[in-house]
Amino acid sequence: MRLVLTENLVEDMELAKPIYENGNILLNKGVDRLYKYKNKLLELGIKHLYVEDKYSYDIEVNEVIKDSTRRTGKKIVTNTFDKIKKGFLNLNTKDLKNVIEDITNELVFNEDVLLNLVSLKNTSDYTYEHSVNVSVICIALGKMLGYSKNELFKLGMGGMLHDVGKILIPEKILTKPESLTEYEYFIMKNHPELGFNYLQQIESISPLSRIVVYSHHERVDGSGYPRGLKGNEIHEFARVAAIADVFDALTSDRVYRSRWPTYKAAEYIMNNTEKLFDYQLVKKFLPQVSFYPNGAEVILSCGYRAIVRAQNIGFPTRPILRVIEDDEGKELDRELDLLKHMNIVITKVIV
Ligand SMILES: [Fe+2]
Repeated sequence: MRLVLTENLVEDMELAKPIYENGNILLNKGVDRLYKYKNKLLELGIKHLYVEDKYSYDIEVNEVIKDSTRRTGKKIVTNTFDKIKKGFLNLNTKDLKNVIEDITNELVFNEDVLLNLVSLKNTSDYTYEHSVNVSVICIALGKMLGYSKNELFKLGMGGMLHDVGKILIPEKILTKPESLTEYEYFIMKNHPELGFNYLQQIESISPLSRIVVYSHHERVDGSGYPRGLKGNEIHEFARVAAIADVFDALTSDRVYRSRWPTYKAAEYIMNNTEKLFDYQLVKKFLPQVSFYPNGAEVILSCGYRAIVRAQNIGFPTRPILRVIEDDEGKELDRELDLLKHMNIVITKVIV
């Protein structure tokens, strides 16, 4: 399968993964003549999708966790946040715990060395899907750091709930597409503390998870909030969550900008180590991320168009490609291993 922009759908493409809307299947895997649904999909804010076509029949995209687990996580976090919004004080955390345990187990047993962190979110469901992704990235990074299963669980719970305080921020500020005024930003910056204070009432949530909620916007140079802590003053769990939060936010479509390709988000994280992010953690995390994930469409310095077919472990910028078009737009079907052609570089990621 491969990833395409919805606006680039053409006749011979078949849907490779089901599309869900409010928990129900909107279009099922295997639906052909997808281009007929192009406008409807765009209206729903679905800008990218995985398809099968003649170029991608043998390209495998390895998911970090099962799609079904991701969907369950999203449903549970949506319900949890809804209840908090409605003022429920006795939150039952059983479902939340079960799904975080499932995510932890899947990641602990997943032997894949490289993380495919492409996240295709519907902009309207951003908060919930982002919560699940931050939890997944936190647990994945925690695993690289050698955390115990129990620690991974607590970190994952913190990741899942990191933005719970946003539920208590006025909707008008949360969904404002323009930049926030100084006052609105001041209100917005209260969300870590609001979330933390709320969770203080819920005994079943570990203090280690609460610290992630409280400190995920702290930055190692002291420029973060709410306390402006520096370096090791920030709990390691929160330093992990800061990387997960920013990485997932950058690679997601937002109301005010399109998602960044993985390599660009990775570069941003890299360029801001020691300033915003912990160098030791970034050093563990980035080599495990597929900068150009399988199925991504790219343009090469020689003008060719290609699809990423496989990874060369340890060389995140030199994947194995299937070239599908030459520099004059003539159709090709040729394999190109960038590790064997060091004179060629990827200059653009289409999706
Ligand atoms: Fe946040």
